[in-house]
Amino acid sequence: MSAITESAVRSALSRVEDPEIGKPLTELGMVKSIDITGSDVDVVLYLTIAGCPMKSTITSNAQAAVEEIEGVGAVTVTTDVMSDEQRRELRMSLRGGVDEPTIPFAQPDSTTRVYAVASGKGGVGKSSMTVNLAVALAARGFKVGVLDADIYGHSVPGLLGSDQHPTAVDDMIMPPIAHGVKLISIGHFVDGNAPVVWRGPMLHRAIQQFLADVFWGDLDFLFMDLPPGTGDVAISVAQLVPNAELLIVTTPQAAAAEVAERAGSITQQTRQRVAGVIENMAAMVLPDGSTLDVFGSGGGQHVADRLSVLTGGKVPLLGQIPLDPALRVHGDDGTPIAVSEPDSPAGKAVGEIAAQLMTRRDSLAGKSLGLGVNR
Ligand SMILES: Nc1ncnc2c1ncn2[C@@H]1O[C@H](COP(=O)(O)OP(=O)(O)OP(=O)(O)O)[C@@H](O)[C@H]1O
Ligand SMILES: [Mg+2]
Repeated sequence: MSAITESAVRSALSRVEDPEIGKPLTELGMVKSIDITGSDVDVVLYLTIAGCPMKSTITSNAQAAVEEIEGVGAVTVTTDVMSDEQRRELRMSLRGGVDEPTIPFAQPDSTTRVYAVASGKGGVGKSSMTVNLAVALAARGFKVGVLDADIYGHSVPGLLGSDQHPTAVDDMIMPPIAHGVKLISIGHFVDGNAPVVWRGPMLHRAIQQFLADVFWGDLDFLFMDLPPGTGDVAISVAQLVPNAELLIVTTPQAAAAEVAERAGSITQQTRQRVAGVIENMAAMVLPDGSTLDVFGSGGGQHVADRLSVLTGGKVPLLGQIPLDPALRVHGDDGTPIAVSEPDSPAGKAVGEIAAQLMTRRDSLAGKSLGLGVNR
């Protein structure tokens, strides 16, 4: 029987990731000590903070990994907590050697596609589309984050069925993960259902913090769920992440389409790109297979056509999501239809839009922003 070596234990631990950070424990300086007595192994891991919500996941994953080593005897994994200095080093290394928070998505070399989901009117399904597209892409293997930028009407945690809270590593915020998606919401920072009454500068600061202080890791996609209309938040997003593209959500109704067009035309001032239009609450499929246009028809195409003219580029209608009670029920339950019933008409329609977002690869490099930028 070959003796157990420290390097074998280390290599086993290198296959265990911190679930919040998505990097191996060994790379994060989270292995405090490895003691080997005969074939028995004692591992002590550093947690970033006492009461880390991931403690049991991390220790049981580490335990399982070490137990896989051939010939290993009894394995114990216990934990200790990092010192302030160790946390600072970790934070620095996660920020790529700088200790100042910056917005990773606004850097020229960022490969994250950022979509700001906007609408003219409220209640047209922005948040529902945001979380469904996010989980659909996560289910296809992409790294996805959702930032609930609807400071007043935050609803993302509920739609994703998440009651977890972010953890703080000093001033760095580790977002909770639900359905494979990292999420952050003002709902995480206010008491219960307390209303948030913030003015422009505070909103701006909150969104900046969500972008810069949250450890998002290397995301493929970041979705930002905006409040309805063309208010302060939309402007802040345009200033903070000029390369964010807009996804405009509208219902098929003519009146809604007109307002949506206004929301989309804000990009003429911000010089952001409109990635496309999503028509939500489109014709409902009845049990007998016939359809019912509850909210009329044509709104999505109308907005896409009008925005194409206004922006002088092709703004596609990315898809039409039928009105479907199951979509709402799954939203209320925190089990987005895109993953719980992907083959339903609404689930499929979301999947088709997600597929289009996956394949769009055109570079936005060199796009300038018309507004005064204060980053
Ligand atoms: N395609 C659909 N079929 C049935 N119900 C839907 C559909 N899309 C959204 N809903 C429901 O409509 C309501 C409003 O949706 P949602 O909260 O996503 O809209 P919103 O645009 O984010 O609203 P707000 O402007 O308040 O942020 C929710 O109850 C949601 O479950
Ligand atoms: Mg919403």
